[in-house]
Amino acid sequence: MNNFELKNPTKIIFGKDTIKQLETEIPKNAKVLLLYGGGSIKKNGIYDQVKKALANVEVVEFGGIPANPEYATLMEALHVIKEESITFLLAVGGGSVIDGTKFLSAAAVFEGETPWDILTNNIKTEKGMPFGTVLTLPATGSEMNSGAVITRRETKEKLAMGGPGLFPVFSILDPQVIASIPQRQLQNGLMDSFTHVLEQYMTYPVQGLLQDRFAESILQTIIEVAPKVLKDPTDYDAASNFMWSCTMALNGLIQKGVPGDWAVHAMGHELTALFGIDHARTLAIITPSHYKYNFEAKKEKLAQYGERVWKIKGGSKEDRAYEAIEKTVAFFHKLGIDTKLSDYTDDYEGTAEEIEKRFTDRGWLGLGEHQNLSPDKVKEIVKMAY
Ligand code: NZQ
Ligand code: ZN
Repeated sequence: MNNFELKNPTKIIFGKDTIKQLETEIPKNAKVLLLYGGGSIKKNGIYDQVKKALANVEVVEFGGIPANPEYATLMEALHVIKEESITFLLAVGGGSVIDGTKFLSAAAVFEGETPWDILTNNIKTEKGMPFGTVLTLPATGSEMNSGAVITRRETKEKLAMGGPGLFPVFSILDPQVIASIPQRQLQNGLMDSFTHVLEQYMTYPVQGLLQDRFAESILQTIIEVAPKVLKDPTDYDAASNFMWSCTMALNGLIQKGVPGDWAVHAMGHELTALFGIDHARTLAIITPSHYKYNFEAKKEKLAQYGERVWKIKGGSKEDRAYEAIEKTVAFFHKLGIDTKLSDYTDDYEGTAEEIEKRFTDRGWLGLGEHQNLSPDKVKEIVKMAY
């Protein structure tokens, strides 16, 4: 097992009818900026619950943060933060609103030239403006981690940022919010959380026995609840297990002491930036090719995953590892998610070369757990995903 440090300061408030607890979690003298997305919270009753709980504090609102939170929109929100002397941010939404809020938390205290530098220069935020979240869509784990991904349409870029100062102070997780989520977003949430576990697991063995079993248990739970969540989002038992699995998949715990990959996300982000494909679906496009291309390096863990998660028996280790990839693809299809780039766009020729160039230009010369996935290999993987 590798050495590690673990600190996660986010307070989780989980369960039925917990949104009202906002009242006691927001500092009494705060001036709050309430941030939300395209307006789903006004239709499903979440907005009303939040407003009621905030009745005794001063609140300014900023809505309209789009999926794949857009830099230009966030710069408008930053203007409001400064004009109104805001002291506390409250994100009410999914990963996009929460990530946008993390960017604002960092940008509000940033002293450099332009806040875009936080992303391009990979500046870690040690202490941002404090913020809390009310999660409306289980998927990203953003409610309990310190990372964010921001999009800039002008330049077709989607870049990550983070730092120890960007954990939410608190996050409220009421699984009842799932009832109003459209099927497509439920599918995305299941897909994204599943891949988060894989990114931290499908590497090579380092005798992290407990980490492996944490990871496998999350995968098994997602596989078990997925059909129930998709069939009936008001099924509270399924919803609560889905929600907690998504949080646990990316709150830092399962990655401690073990290597991480994250090349699937790096390639996937480019497909969102170039084609606007939903984040989760880009992962379904890249994962199968990535595992086939890196089969030799990943086969020990692929076989273990196949044996423990998919109960594959017999054959050689290689056979079990290969079957594990096939089972994974079948699971993605069962979720209702296509796994080829050509399923999403006819305009895919040249994509692999474009991504190879972008990674080279950014100096991303060695991705993955062995830091040896060079841009020319990335090109091959993306081509295999056409
Ligand atoms: O905009 P609103 O009206 O809120 O509607 C949203 C949006 O259209 C809707 N929605 C959310 N909760 C709902 C609901 N509709 C009905 N009822 C509800 N209760 O769902 C749509 C998608 O929302 P979004 O926040 O974009 O989805 P998700 O949570 O999947 O977030 C995706 C973003 O997170 C980033 C992705 O790259 C992407 O930008 N990620 C963030 C990570 C992190 N911070 O750790 C890690 C991930 O790998 C990922 O990269
Ligand atoms: Zn993701």
